[in-house]
Amino acid sequence: MGYNVAVDGPAGAGKSTIAKLVAKEKNYIYVDTGAMYRAMAIHFLQKGISPEATEEIAHACQDANVTIDYEDGVQQVYLNGENVTSRLRTEEVGNMASKTSQIPAVREKLLELQRGLAREKDVIMDGRDIGTCILPEADVKIYLTASVETRATRRFEELKEKGVPCDYEEIARDIKERDTRDTNRETAPLRKADDAYLVDSSDMTIEEVVKTICGYCK
Ligand code: DC
Repeated sequence: MGYNVAVDGPAGAGKSTIAKLVAKEKNYIYVDTGAMYRAMAIHFLQKGISPEATEEIAHACQDANVTIDYEDGVQQVYLNGENVTSRLRTEEVGNMASKTSQIPAVREKLLELQRGLAREKDVIMDGRDIGTCILPEADVKIYLTASVETRATRRFEELKEKGVPCDYEEIARDIKERDTRDTNRETAPLRKADDAYLVDSSDMTIEEVVKTICGYCK
């Protein structure tokens, strides 16, 4: 069994930024599970299935094969053999992932892939249910959060920097909607594991958060 660090928290809390830096510092492999749900979302979008068509989605899981590889330490996600990494981070894919990740068949499909990675390697894995469902025996669990305002501002600045037209109110609304969906769903809802450290990054720098989390880890 590898050394396992689980990082959960809401959208936009900075999980991937922080987990990547901790991975570098501690020599762990960073596993982004949201990217796996996003790859499944691409599969459903390609098939033109509505996220509400639960049975069709469950059926479509059968011919989706998501695999992970690493190129220069950067996670690459393959959907049926095709590298879809560059297509994962659009709003369309994110929204589809948020909706379809509620469906048990989608979660079951990815569970073994995630557990298998943690068995073999020292990992820091981020997602929504890593500490509660996927790796309940993780060596360290972190629940990383930040206020809606902070998360929306970060996202707004990030998009502005990339030259993507965006609206702060719309981003904040989207974040709130995603929080509601992720925390209220029946299957594997987002919640802090009882034995997770709570880290609220609203008033912390990236360096401070990384230092705090590294302090909890081997
Ligand atoms: O972290 P992210 O934004 O890339 O995740 C995309 C969606 O996938 C998110 O809305 C919730 C879902 N997700 C999940 O249900 N469980 C995980 N372990 C990771 C992501």
